Amino acid sequence: MAPQSRPPSRMAPLGMLLGLLMAFCFTFCLSRQNQKEFALSNPEKSSTKETERTETKAEEEPDTEILEVFHPTHEWQALGPGQAVPAGSHVRLNLQTGAREVKLQYEDNFRNNLKGLKKGKRLDVNTNTYTSQDLKNALAKFKEGAEMESSKEDKARQAEVKRLFRPIEELKKDFDELNVVIETDMQIMVRLINKFNSSSSSLEEKIAALFDLEYYVHQMDNAQDLLSFGGLQVVINGLNSTEPLLKEYAAFVLGAAFSSNPRVQVEAVEGGALQKLLVVLATEHPLATKKKVLFALCSLLRHFPYAQQQFLKLGGLQVLRTLVQEKGTEVLAVRVVTLLYDLLTEKMFAEEEAELTQDMSPEKLQQYRQVHLLPGLREQGWCEITAHLLALPGHDAREKVLQTLGALLATCRDHYCQDPSLGRTLASLQAEYQALASLELQDGEDEGYFRDLLSSVESLLKELR
Ligand SMILES: *[C@@H]1O[C@H](CO)[C@@H](O)[C@H](O)[C@H]1NC(C)=O
Ligand SMILES: *[C@@H]1O[C@H](CO)[C@@H](O)[C@H](O)[C@H]1NC(C)=O
Repeated sequence: MAPQSRPPSRMAPLGMLLGLLMAFCFTFCLSRQNQKEFALSNPEKSSTKETERTETKAEEEPDTEILEVFHPTHEWQALGPGQAVPAGSHVRLNLQTGAREVKLQYEDNFRNNLKGLKKGKRLDVNTNTYTSQDLKNALAKFKEGAEMESSKEDKARQAEVKRLFRPIEELKKDFDELNVVIETDMQIMVRLINKFNSSSSSLEEKIAALFDLEYYVHQMDNAQDLLSFGGLQVVINGLNSTEPLLKEYAAFVLGAAFSSNPRVQVEAVEGGALQKLLVVLATEHPLATKKKVLFALCSLLRHFPYAQQQFLKLGGLQVLRTLVQEKGTEVLAVRVVTLLYDLLTEKMFAEEEAELTQDMSPEKLQQYRQVHLLPGLREQGWCEITAHLLALPGHDAREKVLQTLGALLATCRDHYCQDPSLGRTLASLQAEYQALASLELQDGEDEGYFRDLLSSVESLLKELR
């Protein structure tokens, strides 16, 4: 599964350094006063030109440059929108308030990192410091700032800023001598797990570690490596943390790690992941947490009949039933119904395939045969629940519910036939989709979406007559 594009904070260390260098260049180019002091790439060739330009500008707007720059201290302080932060500041996201916060790092922290490299040490690019977005924001502010009025106080601040920003030539020299040691994915995962597992890490740091980890475990090999050093179990244990956000992000990682990865799925079930996921779904938690946990559950159950059996034994269907009957959980209800549909069709295809090809291993077929999903669904009232969900607004939701009603038809036929509200809902959907399908046809779509929905509705109506 291809992961989404990497966010800036996850750029490879070298890329990040180069990004930083470019951003610094840009910042310094824009900052007219700095042009003389920090001539760019080719000082010999450009110096005259730069000086000329600086002088012209200086005549037009003498000394009006203002840098709206934040002054970090050794305490965390909230950063205003678009404020620039001096190099070496430490920026973090406060998850409670959504504010970005800044504090002062050791002086020339960045440079010390580079020095460390030259001695062959690993570059520890702190993903909390500068992101390219921070720099973009800073840059935008610099442009705005140039139009504002100057004051004595501002001048003093500018001087301070210049002291903190390091001359570009010095940075360049550091880069030239760089010999970056790239961490392997395994090393990165070990580092992230240690961060998450450490009692001295803050909540923000733990969440950031999980967030980054999710990127890596999309790759099958990486997810299996996570097993090899006990990292998976640490993340599974995160599901019974007292902090809902940690549960949420642990589930986020697990959902990615389980996805089509049988080895990881097996270990996770043995490591108690199934119980823990169900406990979160069965107890009071924010919707966002339940969403991610449901996602992880789906990913654990798919194509893994043993987990499906365990899920049924552990009362998974009751847990899901309670979940879809809560108020305000329509999003979850649609996902639950989709999961049930997927499990039903998966079992059906497995059994069909085994008959047709004899390719499937006998144990696997045996396992699918032991997933008694349909009887469980019928006993626990899923015929009625699914029928009621058809009243949900949204074509997408209805599409999923219609599919599932179809898959349950043989099992639930008597329930459906005795349910007058189902008949009414289907009739009104029929009218709605007839109208939409004919509009669709007028637009030249002969195989349109609404026509498909209409034919699902009509075939159900026919079956129930
Ligand atoms: C996580 O922390 C616990 C306790 O501090 C420790 O025993 C365990 O080995 C750590 N696990 C990993 C995978 O680092
Ligand atoms: C979660 O439960 C497991 C075992 O059930 C335990 O080892 C672990 O320490 C618990 N984790 C937290 C954060 O409570």
